Amino acid sequence: MSYLKQADPVIYSALEKEVTRQNEGLELIASENFVSRPVMQAMGSPLTNKYAEGLPGKRYYGGCQFVDIAEEIAQDRAKRLFNCDWVNVQPHSGASANAAVYLTLMKPGDVFLGLNLAHGGHLTHGSPVNFSGILYKAEYYGVEPDGPMVGRIDMNKVRDQALKIRPRMISIGASAYSRDFDYAAFRAIADEVGAFLWMDMAHTAGLIAAKIMNDPLPHCHIVSTTTHKTLRGPRAGLLLIGKDGENTMGKVAPKSGRTKNWSELFDSSVFPGMQGGPLMHVIAAKAVAFGEALEPGFTEYGKQVISNSKTMADAFVERGYQVVSGGTDNHLCLIDLRNKGITGKDAEIVLGEADITVNKNMVPYDTESPFVTSGIRIGTPAMTTRGLKEDDFKHIVGLIDRVLTHPTDGTTIKEVRGAIHEITARFPLYDFVTA
Ligand SMILES: Cc1ncc(COP(=O)(O)O)c(C=O)c1O
Repeated sequence: MSYLKQADPVIYSALEKEVTRQNEGLELIASENFVSRPVMQAMGSPLTNKYAEGLPGKRYYGGCQFVDIAEEIAQDRAKRLFNCDWVNVQPHSGASANAAVYLTLMKPGDVFLGLNLAHGGHLTHGSPVNFSGILYKAEYYGVEPDGPMVGRIDMNKVRDQALKIRPRMISIGASAYSRDFDYAAFRAIADEVGAFLWMDMAHTAGLIAAKIMNDPLPHCHIVSTTTHKTLRGPRAGLLLIGKDGENTMGKVAPKSGRTKNWSELFDSSVFPGMQGGPLMHVIAAKAVAFGEALEPGFTEYGKQVISNSKTMADAFVERGYQVVSGGTDNHLCLIDLRNKGITGKDAEIVLGEADITVNKNMVPYDTESPFVTSGIRIGTPAMTTRGLKEDDFKHIVGLIDRVLTHPTDGTTIKEVRGAIHEITARFPLYDFVTA
């Protein structure tokens, strides 16, 4: 970092403080992780200088022979990782990957059916302030308010809703849903109503790659993801098709009249449809991260993420917390704090004072506004990367409980912050900034 330190001390100082925050604090935001140094080195490389519109071997710029190598390796590794026919590694982010899905399968005004945003769905699944809700008509399915399926999706209700709505597309995937999805059941419903099926596996991609959660690829027309959450790569997006073939929307090549494959349609939705030049340094970093995820150790990591998450959910239940759906199948749990007399917003703030980072989150059937919320979302991917195990997470739940039951007690917060620093000191992160 010596060049940066000398050339731009203000930015260097912000960076240094952020690294200290990451190092000393307890990162429990479910969508975050810590990339390896090789991934970071690829991202901070001169590949950022290169324009490479198009695809490997078919670029609109000269001098692409070496970035082509990086992109081809990223494609090849992603295909092996998810056992699929086709990928596009160029989306700049999860939201960009999702934009390419809508652009390919929907026309403005078309109706789609997705998971209610207040029940765990994502902004790009039809929020009125996002392009997906502005350009398209979003209808929703949700989780059960009570009964044996409380907090879970009832597939009979999804089917009823799909038969009523007759959507052009059904979306699966969430930002705050702690259970797995029944992709075969979703596909049967999609086929029955003549809809396309899209899975946004942004949160669980790493656990799907590790083959410890259900695999959407054999069932969905298209799958999108981010690469930076459980997949532990650079901040970016990715599109995948399990089995490629001729599109059923009647799209043909203009000169020959040949029916185009699905992959060709999605490729052109990414570029030139909604992006310009790909970020070749980030694509190289994706290649590195996919290579890491192909190593046997990554499956162990994924198993540990889930085991830690289940341990944490159980420990919260034991302490009288309401965990939505009663537990978790994945890397996160959603805690309804209404019986604890503290809002999500206040919990986020007071935990932050103890250097525990979580995010406030709407819970299903929330009575508070999205700015306040009744819940917090807690995830294990980042701290599992640092090496924490089940006993550490049990200990952490005790510390969180102490803060949430004494939110105005400065001494408790100070003591918990000290205990957190002791934990994080045992699992050091990056020291290169100050080295
Ligand atoms: C399910 C889901 N899809 C898409 C995204 C958007 O990803 P990005 O922030 O990279 O645009 C997120 C991010 O949190 C997400 O949770």
